[in-house]
Amino acid sequence: MERTLLLLKPDALKRRLVGRIIQRLEDKGLDIVGVKMMQLTEEVLAEAYEAHREKSFYRPLLEFMQSGPVVVIALEGRDAVAAVKKMTGATFGWKAEPGTIRGDLTLDQRANLVHAPDTEDAAQRELALFFKAEEIFPWPKEDLKWIYHLEEGEKP
Ligand code: CMP
Repeated sequence: MERTLLLLKPDALKRRLVGRIIQRLEDKGLDIVGVKMMQLTEEVLAEAYEAHREKSFYRPLLEFMQSGPVVVIALEGRDAVAAVKKMTGATFGWKAEPGTIRGDLTLDQRANLVHAPDTEDAAQRELALFFKAEEIFPWPKEDLKWIYHLEEGEKP
């Protein structure tokens, strides 16, 4: 069972799409194990977007990400990192496949509604950046065997 994170950017809140995006996550079978609304600081963003520091869009990206509060959601599920990344769709909204969050709900490249880490390492790093250990609330897993087809001996 993996954990990952979906960050709903300021445009998702301004466009009142929070509920619809959360519904997609729950519909897919992902468990919400942590959720909060926050105003991101320059320091947190510098860490989250370190890989993009030298890019031309870095400064406007940081300004956009501080243009209003965001909602961060910690999620748990089978292969959650890949599953959630796939659900976000391609970075540029106009290129994102229909059926993905960006493909269905945005045409923009910066105001692209959501951010999700693309590797397990990045997921661990970003979960630690946005959540304290006591802000994560794992669900009991007894029912999972009826939801996932777990192999013999495989633990939920
Ligand atoms: P995200 O998945 O959060 O990762 C980096 C973000 O930078 C990306 O989503 C977009 O919001 C933004 N971004 C990436 N490429 C561009 C670009 N060419 N122009 C403007 N913003 C971009």
